[in-house]
Amino acid sequence: MTAHEPRPSRTVSRRFGDHAAVVAVATDPETFSSAVSRHLQVPNGLDGEAHRRARAMLDPFLDAQRVAAYTPAFVRVAQQLLEQLAGRAAFDAVSELGARYAVRAQSAWLGWPASIEDDLLQWVADNRAATRSGDRTRLAGVAVRFDAIVRARVEERMGADAPDDLTTELVRTRDAEGMPLSQEVLVSVLRNWTGGDLASLALCVGVVVAWLTEHPEHAERLAAADDAELDAVLDEILRLDDPFLANRRIATRATEVAGCPVAHEEVVALDWREANVDPARFEHPHAFDPHGNASANLVWGIGPHVCPGRPLATLQLRVLTRELLRTGSVRAAEEHGGVERETPPAGGYRRFMAALERHDA
Ligand code: HEM
Repeated sequence: MTAHEPRPSRTVSRRFGDHAAVVAVATDPETFSSAVSRHLQVPNGLDGEAHRRARAMLDPFLDAQRVAAYTPAFVRVAQQLLEQLAGRAAFDAVSELGARYAVRAQSAWLGWPASIEDDLLQWVADNRAATRSGDRTRLAGVAVRFDAIVRARVEERMGADAPDDLTTELVRTRDAEGMPLSQEVLVSVLRNWTGGDLASLALCVGVVVAWLTEHPEHAERLAAADDAELDAVLDEILRLDDPFLANRRIATRATEVAGCPVAHEEVVALDWREANVDPARFEHPHAFDPHGNASANLVWGIGPHVCPGRPLATLQLRVLTRELLRTGSVRAAEEHGGVERETPPAGGYRRFMAALERHDA
């Protein structure tokens, strides 16, 4: 399981969807612990000082300035992929564009070989299906397979002849006491950096492509927008149809949230999607207003567990959107199988068939 997946090991008994309650729970880690799963999850399952130390050690890998160095690699990945897809009558924006782009971009970032691309893609597909089914045995089987892929990357880097890449840098990282990270911790960190992100990014791409097909009037302005403007638009598109639904917390004591009693050890879900369109917080929750809505946007979470991968995910999405707009105009391809929504616990689209018509065609 990863930071981005609902972990089914403890049952949620209460779901908070109003913005104020979600913010209250997410910003009170003393009362609402993130240690919901029985499995080691670094950093998302940690609390307090252990969590702060883990974030201090790991956040620099995801820092905006550091990830910016990978821009040319992401541009290459996006261009190659779009070149192929623009030649086709239609493609699925989630699996054929989103998942493939996510796997290639994330592998470029981590230094993982192209030879495992198909294994990772198969894993994303199986994991999405297992998540949909809610079947714990199936989910556990998929998680074991993913751990084996990640463990192999760590083991390859244990010797002196390790490649010079970000994964090797992580493997050689020392903790605050100067100790090397255990293999269990390394696998957990890499699982969080890939496992959840690959599926989340694929779903984000589906939502962005769908929005672009519905709003062709914005294409020209977006193609000319600077990075900050494009990032604000992407955040707003994701707020309007947040594909990343929820995370859980467990109460460390009996308490009350927005007038609802919460028992000691009760597991609650923070419904980011619902909170992101809460009419009590957003005057026009379904209206597109990137700057007006930015300060209340919860797509990346809030509080000490706020997404550390935001700069990387935003860069990857921005690069893909820019290249898409540069290549051609995208439209929904209903005649090729159309659209199917995902079902909770995942959001966004299961399938969104689109066609890309080149500007120079
Ligand atoms: C693709 C779009 C993404 C979305 C929508 C997203 C969203 C989120 C949200 C809402 C949280 C808060 C979880 C909580 O409060 O329990 C979170 C946490 C986290 N995200 Fe992301 N994320 C994305 C991409 C990434 C990427 C690219 C990475 C790393 C490579 C990443 C790594 C993490 C980690 C490690 C946590 C746990 C942080 C902690 O517990 O301190 N995310 N993400």
